[in-house]
Amino acid sequence: MPAVVLIGAQWGDEGKGKATDLLGSRVDYVVKFNGGNNAGHTVVVGDEKYALHLLPSGILSPGVVPVIANGVVVDIEVLFNELDALSARGVDVSRLLVSANAHVITHYHRTIDRVTERFLGKRQIGTTGRGIGPTYADKINRVGIRVQDIFDEGILRQKVEGALEQKNHLLLKIYNRRAISTEEIVDDLLSYADRLRPMVSDTSLELNRALEAGRTVLFEGGQATMLDVDHGTYPFVTSSNATSGGAATGSGVAPNRIDRVIAVVKAYTTRVGAGPFPTELHDESGEWLRGRGFEFGTTTGRPRRTGWYDAPIARYSARINGVTDFVLTKLDVLTGLERIPVAVAYDVDGRRVDEVPVSQSDFHHAKPIYEEFEGWSEDISGAREFGDLPKAAQDYVLALEEMSGSRFSAIGVGPDRDAIVVRHDLLD
Ligand code: GDP
Ligand code: IMO
Ligand code: MG
Repeated sequence: MPAVVLIGAQWGDEGKGKATDLLGSRVDYVVKFNGGNNAGHTVVVGDEKYALHLLPSGILSPGVVPVIANGVVVDIEVLFNELDALSARGVDVSRLLVSANAHVITHYHRTIDRVTERFLGKRQIGTTGRGIGPTYADKINRVGIRVQDIFDEGILRQKVEGALEQKNHLLLKIYNRRAISTEEIVDDLLSYADRLRPMVSDTSLELNRALEAGRTVLFEGGQATMLDVDHGTYPFVTSSNATSGGAATGSGVAPNRIDRVIAVVKAYTTRVGAGPFPTELHDESGEWLRGRGFEFGTTTGRPRRTGWYDAPIARYSARINGVTDFVLTKLDVLTGLERIPVAVAYDVDGRRVDEVPVSQSDFHHAKPIYEEFEGWSEDISGAREFGDLPKAAQDYVLALEEMSGSRFSAIGVGPDRDAIVVRHDLLD
């Protein structure tokens, strides 16, 4: 099983970090192909808890080569801080590879992210404020700074100057902020060059050679399907392709190399930031899910919006990503509920709609049509086989599986590394 993609099926925070960690001991490379330090993955290993942002979660697995590929946007200061923090805790970070083509988040991207959000007022996206959107915008506008530019001072100065020419007009005249000097940015970026240089490589070449040699490569998506810039709830999305196709463009490994697509899906739904969310709960059930599931952002600490499971979204994810296997997480959080509602379709202005509507207004108006499933009260955190789960929990999983159209191969029953029921081997 040489190339495997792992992505989020909902609005992020499904437990991708834990799922990657689960496979870590059996893969040779773990590649981050999209996003940047807007991601937040919590991985629990024994008594240790790690919060990863820019680095792929696979860095925690000894022997794995972690790769930051071309599709990622890199805040170099954050990268070094994250590496130092992991090193201090005894994690070997020496194998990390960074693509020469990855784009760099600078001070002006972070500034523009924040001022744009303020300017949007009621229409704001609720970004993480890490400069993600403005950095991808520069990439598409062809005025971005790439990792390789840092090693050629002349080119770097030219590019930063070109980028700032437009931005300083914007900052001064529209946003009433101070101008940013080319020197300040160039000096900052050059100060990282020596430490960064040994990590930088042609990661597409490296990964393709590894695949030729029979190595296993896991592509770990940041964010999720409904936050994808093309397939998510635009404009309330992130600025990258978080779906499985992004693994190919974001790494330089061709789509026909990829043989398996694993989607991580939570047993209920959460969302951070603004945008439509049909099954969102504004009552005590929502509070209950937030408390039980500890739904607070790993990156910004914001309380996550919570709601019931949405089957059309899982089905949509299966289609967009070509999902071969789902990993269902946080089933244990639902323990204690008498009845568990699941959205099976939507009511859009009086019409029943079975699929995620393509029209933004329709999705905004979509009201969930619920089917209720029987709950269970037994503690399931010790379950390791499907048969260990109470009948009602098994039925809940089987119903979700049937509605999604792809098999549910693993089921998370707690945050710990081994708190999982495996029904089908994810790599075999
Ligand atoms: P990611 O961004 O997709 O990697 O997910 P996050 O790490 O942001 O959020 C998932 C949270 O759920 C983390 O705190 C995990 O430790 C935790 N988690 C993952 N799987 C399970 C599970 O099956 N049960 C419970 N109770 N917690 C889980
Ligand atoms: P992981 O990988 C949940 C959301 C933000 C905001 C929108 C755009 O941990 O699942 P951005 O800063 O990316 O421009 O913000 O996307 N967002 C996430 N929500 N999990 C994430 O990552 C997210 N990364 C971005 O809250 O609504
Ligand atoms: Mg997260």
